[in-house]
Amino acid sequence: MALEALRTRCRAWKHRHLLGTRELSADDLLLVLSVAEDLAALGEEAAPLRGRRLFTFFVEPSTRTKTSFVLAARRLGAEVIDFSPSSSSLAKGESLKDTARTIESMGVHFTAIRHGASGAPHFLSRLVRSSVVNAGDGAHEHPTQALLDLLTIRQRLGRLSGLRVALVGDIAHSRVARSNLWALRKLGNEVTLVGPPTLVPRDLDAPATHDFDRALREHDVVMMLRLQLERQQAGLFPSIPEYVRFFGLTRERLALLRPGAIVMHPGPMNRGVEICAEAADSDRSVILHQVANGVRVRAAVLLLLSEAAS
Ligand code: CP
Repeated sequence: MALEALRTRCRAWKHRHLLGTRELSADDLLLVLSVAEDLAALGEEAAPLRGRRLFTFFVEPSTRTKTSFVLAARRLGAEVIDFSPSSSSLAKGESLKDTARTIESMGVHFTAIRHGASGAPHFLSRLVRSSVVNAGDGAHEHPTQALLDLLTIRQRLGRLSGLRVALVGDIAHSRVARSNLWALRKLGNEVTLVGPPTLVPRDLDAPATHDFDRALREHDVVMMLRLQLERQQAGLFPSIPEYVRFFGLTRERLALLRPGAIVMHPGPMNRGVEICAEAADSDRSVILHQVANGVRVRAAVLLLLSEAAS
């Protein structure tokens, strides 16, 4: 598809910011995926974001998300303003608001923000002129991760509705779980939460089970979630070996997967905790495919936001 035709299709997108999947319709979700695939098919010479700037405002660590935003922006011809919290004036006590507005006054069109506080991107979106993308806020949402997961599921299983998806592990602290739950359901999939009662919140209004072995036999997609030890208070489970015994995707459990089922993980992985090395590197694993789709989906998001702002 030619770039101009793709840009015309992007005009169906009406959101100035991308803050979460909860606010997106099924049509919005599918539009991002189709733009991602069409952009990937365009020649490298197409640079629809030339003259635009992306500010990567990451106050929490990231490998995949930040790198893929940078690659996506450069792929489309945009410049990137990188940010390192420890060497910035945030370390001298400058506020989030002043930092964002200071950088923005130098000319910024997109701000991709990652922050430990739920709602930080929403707060920022009310203060700045650029389009804000939530790159992960606390335990709330990580919408571009869910979008790249959707694209991966569709590419690997050939469809994106009528599937049974298990989200497994530390749901309580997982922004990936929330964004995926809301997105997958909008597209007509069944989502089950699997984990110990202390790590599966009741307010998510989704079926839950503690029987991981049974879940493995019944689901088309098994999405393992990182045990977020840095966010946990003591006492949510007895010990790591005990957690692995009941909720680790071990070599033995890998054999319980139904034929054709795929294993996902947003990364970073705790190998030997929620997922063993054999499972992470097996032919059921689509983990590196997820990473590759991160660049495609984030490029699509930047193009859609750019068209909505123009
Ligand atoms: N999945 C994810 O958000 O990974 P990073 O923390 O490395 O960005």
